[in-house]
Amino acid sequence: MKKDILQALQTVSPIQLEEHMLERPANSKLGDFALPCFPFAKVLRKSPVTIAEEIAGSLTHPSIRKAKAVNGYVNIFLNRGEITDNLLHKILNQSAAYGSSNEGNSGVVTIDLSSPNIAKPFSMGHLRSTVIGNSISLLLEKNGYQPVKINYIGDWGTQFGKLLTAYRKWGIEKDVRQAPIETLLKLYIRFHEEAEVDPSLNDEGRAAFKALEDGDVDALALWEWFKTESLKEFQRIYDLLGVTFDSYNGEAYYNDKMEPVVQELEDKGLLVESEGAMVVELEESIPPCLIKKSDGATLYATRDLAAALDRKRTYDFVKSIYVVGNEQSLHFTQVKQVLGKMGHDWANDIVHVPFGLILQGGKKMSTRKGKIVLLEEVLKDAIELAQKNIKEKNPTLANQSEVAEAVGVGAILFSDLKQHRKHDIEFNLETMLQVEGETGPYVQYANARAHSILRKAQVSKTFAINEVNDYEWETVKLLEQFPQTVKRAADELDPSLIAKYAVDLSQAFNSFYGNVQVLTDHASLPYRSALIESVTIVLTESMRLLGMKAPQEM
Ligand code: ARG
Repeated sequence: MKKDILQALQTVSPIQLEEHMLERPANSKLGDFALPCFPFAKVLRKSPVTIAEEIAGSLTHPSIRKAKAVNGYVNIFLNRGEITDNLLHKILNQSAAYGSSNEGNSGVVTIDLSSPNIAKPFSMGHLRSTVIGNSISLLLEKNGYQPVKINYIGDWGTQFGKLLTAYRKWGIEKDVRQAPIETLLKLYIRFHEEAEVDPSLNDEGRAAFKALEDGDVDALALWEWFKTESLKEFQRIYDLLGVTFDSYNGEAYYNDKMEPVVQELEDKGLLVESEGAMVVELEESIPPCLIKKSDGATLYATRDLAAALDRKRTYDFVKSIYVVGNEQSLHFTQVKQVLGKMGHDWANDIVHVPFGLILQGGKKMSTRKGKIVLLEEVLKDAIELAQKNIKEKNPTLANQSEVAEAVGVGAILFSDLKQHRKHDIEFNLETMLQVEGETGPYVQYANARAHSILRKAQVSKTFAINEVNDYEWETVKLLEQFPQTVKRAADELDPSLIAKYAVDLSQAFNSFYGNVQVLTDHASLPYRSALIESVTIVLTESMRLLGMKAPQEM
């Protein structure tokens, strides 16, 4: 709509207009759009008042009801009835497909997300990566891309030599079976404590990793087992979050695929020796990228280079996204630059999507040493709290545990996604679960409320609109903005735009429903039901794009 109006304005404007110049007044009494003419006065040598009058006098467009010049502004009022009628028919016909586009032209986008490390707790950072990455994937899909979600499991590196050593010395099989990650983490911590007293342990650890790299059967079997047990634990979290992956190729998968990369670097003359290690030198301000240690061991960056090349070969992506915390920015800058120096122009299609920390009481929520926050517990707490709220507020509700899960998990997802991902976010279960304020449950509740009205009214596709009042109009205007919001969120890889949009639409709907007698005004009921149905379609789709469930009753 904004684009149409802008075009109409351009045909009568003596000056080149830009999209940002056309405002949406906060108070719709001042119109649906307003063009302030003050910036044009100097160039045109006319008063803003005159310019506004001239533009308003000649502006016409089928969607414009009237244009009024007021104190140097052109205030534009739209044809509410016609616009509403067209829009509601469109939403009801397209249903969940409303807002979709083919912009991506089926281009493949690989998304590296979640990527936890085996034998270590699934951290808050991994949660953010999973939640943000999943939503980005859904947004890209809605815009016509083909997302490929890759869980690049951290299952390789010298730490596994230490873990094997620790397990062989002190491990108990039954404990690992019962609580794999907790037990393995304890073993790993113990290894470090004992190695401080007896440094020869480190040599044993190194030897064990070497054996693993060389394919020693016993070492491999143990490592496989740690991996299987860890993945089982991660799977419980993915099930709760409703997230799936297209590939689990992690670091170990690239163990035997690094030599060609190192060779290519060598052939292209990029590999230089530095203090016994092999590195690629980068732009001045960026430290060199470490490819091989002095003992010949490969590194995190080496594996990421092999993985990037493999992804390009396998998927021929148009874009390759890595949803990983801020603290790894340097690493991705290095990987990208190395690929660029190798002559791969697609290095420009690699995008690191960084995010901030989750804080509690202003401090980083940590999984190190004693302060383990086991994510599963956090999720379970949220669900329990949601369950308690339901028992208080709606004790007769059917499928209580299903709804509690949708609300508890939705609350966590939403509180993560509603702020721009670059910000650190404060973790507070109580606030997340409130039904007032900008929360997941607030949006879910608005949607459930809309459904409960629809259960009482008959929805039909034939309706006539007499008048669109201010409350209805605010809601309609937001519904109209959904497609462009989806597009922007995908372009900017920013799910928070959808979360904010969902809050705005919920607020508009709540204020409409609070101020208009929907069920008792029979003449307007068909039209209003169509409006409410459209709200549920768009709210449900917004929540889906955030990875949330949208219960119809709560
Ligand atoms: N496993 C890593 C970690 O937990 C994250 C991996 C991110 N992805 C990548 N391709 N490097 O820190």
